[in-house]
Amino acid sequence: MHRKEDARFIRGRGNYTDDVRLPGMLYGAVLRSPHAHARIVSIDTSAAESHPKVKAVITGETLAGLNLAWMPTLSNDIQAVLATDKVRFQGQEVAFVVAEDAYSARDALELIDVEYDPIDVVIDARRALDPGAPVIRDDLEGRTDNRIFDWEAGDKARTDAAFEQAEVTVAQDMLYPRVHPAPLETCGALADFDKVTGKLTVWCPTQAPHAHRTLYAMVAGLPEHKIRVISPDIGGGFGGKVGIYPGYVCAIVGSIVTGKPVKWMEDRSENLMSTAFARDYHMRGEVAATRDGKIQAIRVQVTADHGAFNGTAQPTKFPAGFFHVFSGSYDIEAAHCEVTGVYTNKAPGGVAYACSFRVTEAVYLVERMVDVLAAELGLDPAEVRMRNLLRPEQFPYHSPTGWEYDSGDYPRALRLAMDMAGYDKLRAEQADKRARGELMGIGVSFFTEAVGAGPRKHMDILGLGMADGAELRVHPTGKAVLRVSCQSQGQGHETTFAQIVGQELGIPADDVEVVHGDTDQTPFGLGTYGSRSTPVSGAATAIVARKVRDRAKIVAAAMLEASPDDLEWDSGKWSVVGDPASGKSMAEIALAAHSSLELPEGVEGHLDAVTVYNPPNLTYPFGAYICVVDVDPGTGQVKVRRFVAVDDCGVRINPMIVEGQIHGGLADGVGMALMQVMAFDEDGNHLGASFMDYLLPTAVECPSWELGETVTPSPTHPIGAKGVGESATVGSPAAVVNAVVDALQPYGVRHADMPLTPANVWRVVNGDPFRT
Ligand code: CDP
Repeated sequence: MHRKEDARFIRGRGNYTDDVRLPGMLYGAVLRSPHAHARIVSIDTSAAESHPKVKAVITGETLAGLNLAWMPTLSNDIQAVLATDKVRFQGQEVAFVVAEDAYSARDALELIDVEYDPIDVVIDARRALDPGAPVIRDDLEGRTDNRIFDWEAGDKARTDAAFEQAEVTVAQDMLYPRVHPAPLETCGALADFDKVTGKLTVWCPTQAPHAHRTLYAMVAGLPEHKIRVISPDIGGGFGGKVGIYPGYVCAIVGSIVTGKPVKWMEDRSENLMSTAFARDYHMRGEVAATRDGKIQAIRVQVTADHGAFNGTAQPTKFPAGFFHVFSGSYDIEAAHCEVTGVYTNKAPGGVAYACSFRVTEAVYLVERMVDVLAAELGLDPAEVRMRNLLRPEQFPYHSPTGWEYDSGDYPRALRLAMDMAGYDKLRAEQADKRARGELMGIGVSFFTEAVGAGPRKHMDILGLGMADGAELRVHPTGKAVLRVSCQSQGQGHETTFAQIVGQELGIPADDVEVVHGDTDQTPFGLGTYGSRSTPVSGAATAIVARKVRDRAKIVAAAMLEASPDDLEWDSGKWSVVGDPASGKSMAEIALAAHSSLELPEGVEGHLDAVTVYNPPNLTYPFGAYICVVDVDPGTGQVKVRRFVAVDDCGVRINPMIVEGQIHGGLADGVGMALMQVMAFDEDGNHLGASFMDYLLPTAVECPSWELGETVTPSPTHPIGAKGVGESATVGSPAAVVNAVVDALQPYGVRHADMPLTPANVWRVVNGDPFRT
């Protein structure tokens, strides 16, 4: 089925936050810090205030008077809305100007005079805990260093014992560099506070409208029913639009102060400099194995750079997200990780950029380590994987760090990928090329994701359990409206969720309207990120549709003058068992449910239902990827020649959309592996604040993807679907890096950190290993 929403998107008829215009609307602009770390000595706003078109200038002091200078982050830290004491990263919000038009607001920023007193910075996370390092969060009582948390998972004693007895051990330091979700649409908000009704309406491209509303209610003390968050069309989120940014709060305060609607939209540089980053994990991986390549244990130490405020998004119990899924897709006896989170003078964030809470870092780690082991043992990396992959009969599989993988046939997926790639032939071609001095690399990766957060008893964000609601109403003519709490950012929910309802009720998906992104119109739920929409809201949708179907059965029984026990659901109709001709379609039943038909005692009529889905487990999509690269030793340029991706996301609701999701994720992976990094100089100046420096992959850098699939339904999901939105971003960087390192094997290279830009590859080839 083609995407319903594309009818408006391809005609330029989408309705994004910046498209929304209200009568009398004013415009906001944020003044940002030029320093990465500096005390604020004074702020003089008088010149800006006397600008003829300026309506208000808001500083940290103004906010402090309203008790809004600081706001909670998703990780229970606090973050400055507008700085009061000092600035802690370049680009931090210092003041907010509200003016009649966006240009005047920007002009007036230059009239604000801020005196800064710069102090030493912490940029390298590995130096953050050095004695004498400047304490970034001296606002937090009792804080004497930059440590945020120490966290561990797995069995340390068992893992250490396995290492002591191992025939072979390998170790590798690696960095998953800081990257940015970089959606095409930047962040912004339009706030409208109506003094008469006391109602606040906020339009903003949030991936989690209900969570935003609850947080606004908690922070501002406004009653929840007086707050409406509307998330219109979103031009990509990728995790970066989950949290609340200072600009949103400033727009709200601006509207309260001026009595007018206030719109604030950030520009590209602001988006890259100040909204949530992803990754930034310094990792040391170790593997213990037998000489024939059986992996016995894996041990990891991580220093996690969380920037100036701990704003990472993940369930409360897991400060390192789902990183502890790092034993990957392998049958490993023991595993242990230690993660230390630190503050640095960089933008806060640590969002799950197109992944389920740090699964990307975990998969990258283990997939690089398998290749390091294969190189040590002189074995083929695909063969080492095949020897260690979990076998189908091991599912449901309990991992050494506490996960229960739901279902899978891993060897089948890897075999399919190898067949599609023509793996043996590729190796033969590589040998020929190596003999001629040409650099060709073949990279394999295998991933397991953990998506669909999550069971409420284990998972909450700021105390809000991760269950999602759904409401379904079938109108008298058999047309349906589904209301869900998740929020599409381009993934096609209006189509796929309609397909689920259509399938369950036997009506065309075109007859189902999906309503989302408006807290006044949808049930509570935690939103869309970590590929959780299909596993959680998709499941809620199937269940609410089944509730309607059960209700329809009672109505059909009344119509057929039969007992409900004598009816069966067949070909989209309720009919008397053995008499398909008696079948009543959902449209017929819906009309009857709204008619004068006599219904049994206790049956109210109409066809609607409500549900809240609390997932019993996560879903575990997986896949096998093979990447083929050619490297030019003279220039260091990497060309991705082929990319084979076999994905298993259980039952596919809309295969075309699934393939689109995979294409996007693969391009993301190529971007991260070869081009992208949020770099800083030693003073904390941001070196990638535009798309001239922070490179996005285009069709030019991407090959024609070769996709394959296997289908292993999830036993815990009502329709057997697993999430897929982020699988390819999770699995692909390791395949690309493994391919480049494989190409560089003649130079004795075992590892090279991302991004493998021409300059970085050239340095590796010339014996000058680099760190990002
Ligand atoms: O949470 P998010 O929407 O980003 O990720 P997802 O749940 O993996 O879904 C991405 C898109 O792919 C949605 O339109 C899904 O309904 C669709 N999908 C599908 O058609 N079949 C699956 N097994 C998984 C997702």
